[in-house]
Amino acid sequence: MTDTTHHKTGVEGVEGGVGLTALMVAAARAIETHRHDSLAQDIYAEHFVHAAPASADWPVRIHQVEDGDANPLWGRFARYFGLRTRVLDDFLLHSVRARGARQVVLLGAGLDARAFRLDWPPGCVIFEIDREGVLAFKHKVLGGLPTTPKAARVPIPVDLRADWAAALTDAGFDTAAPSAWLAEGLLFYLPNTSETNLIHTVDRLSAGGSSLAFEVKLDKDLLEYRDSPLYTATKHQIGIDLLNLFSREPRPDSTGDLAGKGWTTTVHTPFDYTRQHGRGPHPEHNDALAGNRWVFAHKPRP
Ligand SMILES: C[S@@+](CC[C@H](N)C(=O)[O-])C[C@H]1O[C@@H](n2cnc3c(N)ncnc32)[C@H](O)[C@@H]1O
Repeated sequence: MTDTTHHKTGVEGVEGGVGLTALMVAAARAIETHRHDSLAQDIYAEHFVHAAPASADWPVRIHQVEDGDANPLWGRFARYFGLRTRVLDDFLLHSVRARGARQVVLLGAGLDARAFRLDWPPGCVIFEIDREGVLAFKHKVLGGLPTTPKAARVPIPVDLRADWAAALTDAGFDTAAPSAWLAEGLLFYLPNTSETNLIHTVDRLSAGGSSLAFEVKLDKDLLEYRDSPLYTATKHQIGIDLLNLFSREPRPDSTGDLAGKGWTTTVHTPFDYTRQHGRGPHPEHNDALAGNRWVFAHKPRP
């Protein structure tokens, strides 16, 4: 496997490397939560941010940001994460309430607190897959809060570059029952072959009636936007060099791959949802979000 993505830093938890991006999204969700026109509520997010030395001094309210909404990271990018959270909350709740799935798999779950914050129907199981150090940090922080999940919650520490299917089925995932899958802010960190394997594995483990949402970047050349306000602010303000963490390999056509396996797919830009919700990021010049797409796929019932 020709992967350098996570070995560049040698860091496995949330303190650096790709794990630190989980804290960035948590800080964004904390900020979103306390906006007067908030798109999504995550009362757990700020606890993660405060608990990690790497992020303890990051803002968790927009008024703590000197230039507020004009800040490319904590203004526009954080709003992007807020919108993404809302849209994918809605996707998962629709998958369980309207499509009848009772198993939810969060791939690259990071500090996603959906098991605690969404109103799941009875009988739901939420499987959370991420690397061991990230899940250990999450466990420690959640363990210090007076809270219990609103569904059965099964953390699975495994690296998604390895063969992870057995870890999931060993943890109780039922391949005969419909499931809802989410890869939110994940695939662009994985090597090309790991993304292809992930898509094939999701298809193989999914009964008819299952759904998958995932995020991709369509950019042919990621470096085209290297001077964008979003990438430069993220690097200079919190030391996360996203372009260094993203896989630079050509991306597989995962949407086409799923369509070829009989799934129906729809592809949206984030800006579609900005229009729908009346708030969120708008397109701009030199926009690192220009190639981002949110893909929704459904496997037909037999
Ligand atoms: C940007 S964060 C997104 C987290 C979460 N999905 C969210 O939206 O809040 C990316 C997450 O993917 C996880 N990740 C990246 N590469 C991974 C791998 N090879 N195996 C397991 N998890 C991985 C990271 O540890 C991190 O938690």
